[in-house]
Amino acid sequence: KIPVIIDCDPGHDDALMLMLAFGSGKFDIKAITTSAGNQTQEKTLNNALKILTLIGANVPVYKGAEKPMFRDLIIADHVHGETGLDCPSLPQPTIKPDFLSAVEGIAKVLTESDEKVILVPTGPLTNIATFLLAYPHLKDKIGRISLMGGGIFRGNITPLAEFNIFVDPEAAHLVFKSGIPITMCGLDVTHKALVFQKDIDLFRSLGNKSGLAAADLMDFFSIFYRTTCTELNGGAALHDPCAIAWLIEPDMFVSKPCFVDVEINGTLTSGTTVVDFYGVTGKKPNVEVVFDINRERYIEILYNSIKNLP
Ligand code: BDR
Ligand code: CA
Repeated sequence: KIPVIIDCDPGHDDALMLMLAFGSGKFDIKAITTSAGNQTQEKTLNNALKILTLIGANVPVYKGAEKPMFRDLIIADHVHGETGLDCPSLPQPTIKPDFLSAVEGIAKVLTESDEKVILVPTGPLTNIATFLLAYPHLKDKIGRISLMGGGIFRGNITPLAEFNIFVDPEAAHLVFKSGIPITMCGLDVTHKALVFQKDIDLFRSLGNKSGLAAADLMDFFSIFYRTTCTELNGGAALHDPCAIAWLIEPDMFVSKPCFVDVEINGTLTSGTTVVDFYGVTGKKPNVEVVFDINRERYIEILYNSIKNLP
C-alpha cells in the first residue's frame, strides 16, 4: 500500500477525495491534516471528522493552521456553502482530533516511518510550507507531493489564479521551490474530471450510505458549476480526487514535466502557477504537470471505491 498523509479542506470534492482514498484500499493513510481554505479551520476540521465518521475510518486527524502564512483567509462559501460541506446526509462526528497540530503530526508520522511518505494536499499549502520551515531535516522523508492546485492556462478565483494557490501563494511558492518531486493536478485536468447527472444517479443507486452522501455532495456543488461554468455542459469539476487517482493509476492521466513557479507579487496575477509548458526558460522541470484524463475510468474507480465503503 502507498503510505500517504492527506492535507485537505473539506469541501465537497475533498470529501469525495477522502472516500476515494479510503475506499480504493490502495493506501496506508497515516494521518489526515486539515487546512483552512474552503471554510475556516474550525469548519474544515469538523467536516473531515464528519466524513471519517460516515465511512468508519480510524486514523489520526491533526488540526492545521487557522490562516495563511502572511495573509488573511479567503474562503469559498460561494461553492461549498456556509458549513463548507453543505450536504443533507452526513452524520455528526463521533471522533475527535489528536492533540498535536498538523505540523507536529506530519513530523511524527515522518519520523516514525521507515519508508518515504507521499503528501497529498488538496487545499491551500499553509501546513505543508510551515512544516518544511519547521522540520527541514525531515524533507527527505517525503517521497512526493501529489497536489490539487494551480493550472497552466486558467484560473477560477481570479482570471489566472486557482483557489488553493491563491489563498496562500507564499506557502505554494515555498513548496514548489522545495526540490521535492511534485505532481500538480491543476484546473486544466480537473475541468475535464467531470461528473454529470447520469453519474450522480449511478452513485445514488449504489445503495450504501456513502453512495448516497457522494450523490448529495455532487448534487450540491453541481449547482455552482451549472450556473458558472456553462461550457462544461452540465458537468461539475471533481478537482481533489484527481490528486489521489493519479497515485492509483497514473496511466489514466496525461502529464508533462515542466518548470513551475508561483507568482506572489503580480498586481493581476498573484497566486498564479506560471508553467513553462514549452520549455522556453530552459529551466529544469520541477513539477509533473497533469493536463488530461480518461474521464470514464476516473468515474469508474471512484464508483468502485465508494462501493467498498459502508
Ligand atoms: C479547489 O478549490 C476548492 O474549492 C476545491 O476543494 C479544490 O481543492 C479547486 O480550485
Ligand atoms: Ca480542496
